Amino acid sequence: MTTSTAIAAALSVLGDASSITVLTGAGMSAESGVPTFRDVQTGLWAKYDPMTLATPEAWQENPALVWAWYQRRRAMLTAVEPNAGHRALATWAQSADVRVVTQNVDDLHERAESSDVVHVHGSLFACRCDTCGREHDAEVTDPESDRLSPPGCECGGLVRPGVVWFGEMLPKNAFAEATIRAEACDVFILVGTSGVVYPAAGLPHIARGAGATIVEINPDETDLSDACDITIRSTAAVALPALVDSLTTNG
Ligand code: OAD
Repeated sequence: MTTSTAIAAALSVLGDASSITVLTGAGMSAESGVPTFRDVQTGLWAKYDPMTLATPEAWQENPALVWAWYQRRRAMLTAVEPNAGHRALATWAQSADVRVVTQNVDDLHERAESSDVVHVHGSLFACRCDTCGREHDAEVTDPESDRLSPPGCECGGLVRPGVVWFGEMLPKNAFAEATIRAEACDVFILVGTSGVVYPAAGLPHIARGAGATIVEINPDETDLSDACDITIRSTAAVALPALVDSLTTNG
């Protein structure tokens, strides 16, 4: 299927849909300059070992190293902007029932003014105590002057990043809401995810089981491509505005 045929097929099902759920992954923010995890040359996991930075054991072992890494990612995000794909989703939601579920821990959907985004892997900007669970704001500092050790909580615990690490459960309420959004939509769109991390990668299967049409937007084939009805081999910042411009102009 060529990209234009796939876009035409997607427009046809989206034109008839009354409810749309969009699951985004790291590729959604790639054109803003945020590295993905698994792209071979540029992905974060090609450069860093997730087992030393993104597990509860890594935190126990070396909280300063883990904290500094997340501080750098927070600081990097303050230097980038939402892209045309983020903005297209926010615009679309003004005139249609479009719900976003994201695996991303960045805040680019919110900065593009999407409201009501479900973060199934947590957020870089919502920290919490590793002992009592109390919520703490994330301090964004200059990457050069990164605080090397995590702040302390009143209870004596350490403030940890509010992201889901390997081996941890997803936030219960967020995943419950994501499941509802997968079950309730007519069209489920996957944008920029490799589809290898479960349970998030199970959401399109839930949507499909409930009767939704599955559309993928990704320049490359993924583990979920075979489960998709329509695959648009393009990027988030190109394909989403193309779809949304057509739907909002003609609809
Ligand atoms: P990955 O890095 O695994 O996959 C990124 C996907 O984005 C790939 O399929 C790329 O082909 C695609 N991609 C790259 N550039 C793109 C673009 N401009 N437009 C659209 N797609 C593009 O990222 P995720 O699937 O999000 O977990 O990874 C899932 C989880 O693994 C993450 O949430 C993170 C990570 O470990 C946690 O933080 C818990």
